[in-house]
This record gives sequence, structure tokens and C-alpha cells, in this order.
Amino acid sequence: MLLESQKKEILDFARSQVSGNDALHRMEHLEETAREALKLAEGESGDPDVVWAAAMLHDICKSKNGDHGAEGSKLARLFLSSIRISKDITDKACDAIYFHNKDFTDGPIERKILWDADKLPIMRAEGFKERMLPYWTAKLGEKEGVKKSIEEYHFYRSRFHTGTAKNEVEANSTAMQRCINNLPHEE
Ligand SMILES: [Fe+2]
Ligand SMILES: [Fe+2]
Repeated sequence: MLLESQKKEILDFARSQVSGNDALHRMEHLEETAREALKLAEGESGDPDVVWAAAMLHDICKSKNGDHGAEGSKLARLFLSSIRISKDITDKACDAIYFHNKDFTDGPIERKILWDADKLPIMRAEGFKERMLPYWTAKLGEKEGVKKSIEEYHFYRSRFHTGTAKNEVEANSTAMQRCINNLPHEE
């Protein structure tokens, strides 16, 4: 069980760590991921405290060099231990953070929930247009950015882990196809 005071410490720490991230990986992204994770935890019988803490901390090393899942997991462990979060919650949250940017087929439900919660918003037309496209066009320019975003959509689409997320991705696929068809590359 997380105490209210511990939740506040996690929020404050997360905010301080992600302030230097690119605009699409700051507090708003953590909060959105946490909301998605809590919804998935309900449908999938995951531990809400674990998925919430993991979601709030999963991108704390996004702007650093190297593997931000592995680095974030290490930093999250130090922080969670320092505020006396139980070993069980810490272990499960850090496992989920470690794997959120990696391919895996099996593992604890909280690992699957965090991965899915992180990617689910960009599998919806609004999220795709507001997050995925701006992220890649800022990095690669308009034409390559659009191409890369569509590739990423297809890459992620086939990799969801939980039944709840898979169902939603499938339900969105017609609207997503329409959205993709309307992008400049199709001209
Ligand atoms: Fe990430
Ligand atoms: Fe993320």
C-alpha cells in the first residue's frame, strides 16, 4: 500500500526528473500513462500501486544517454528505497520500468500493463497526431517523420500484451487507418 505522503514524494521526484525531457515526455505523459495503467490494472487484476508508481517513474532517465529503461529502473530503485516503499512494490515497479522500452513475451502482469499503458495513447488517432507525429517530424523532418510514425504504429500495434489493450487497439484500427490515409505521404 502506498501512503498519500509517499505518492506525493513520488510525484515531486518525477516532476523534478522529467523537467529536462523533450516536451512529449514530461509530467503530462507520465500522468496520462498512469491513468491508462490504472484502467488496465482493473481489467487485468494488476496491482494499482505498482503500475501507478512505475508509470510515474518510467521516463525519469529519458533524456540521459544509454538505455533509459535500465537507467530509470536503477534510479527508481534508489529513490523508492529512500522513501521506504516496500520491497515488493519496488521490485515489481522497477521490473516494469526496466522492460518498458524492450521486447518481451512473458513476465509479471505489471510489466505488461506499463508497456501497454505507455503506448496505448499513440494507437489512437488523437494521440498519434498529437504525440507520435510531432515527436518524429521534429527529429527527422516532415517526410521522414511521417514515414517513421507509420512504421512505429505498425511496430507497436502487433506487440501489445494485455487482452484489454489489444482489444482497444483493434477497435481503433479503422479510425487509425483513416488517419494514416490522410497523411501527406499519400498525396
Ligand atoms: Fe520510455
Ligand atoms: Fe513513456
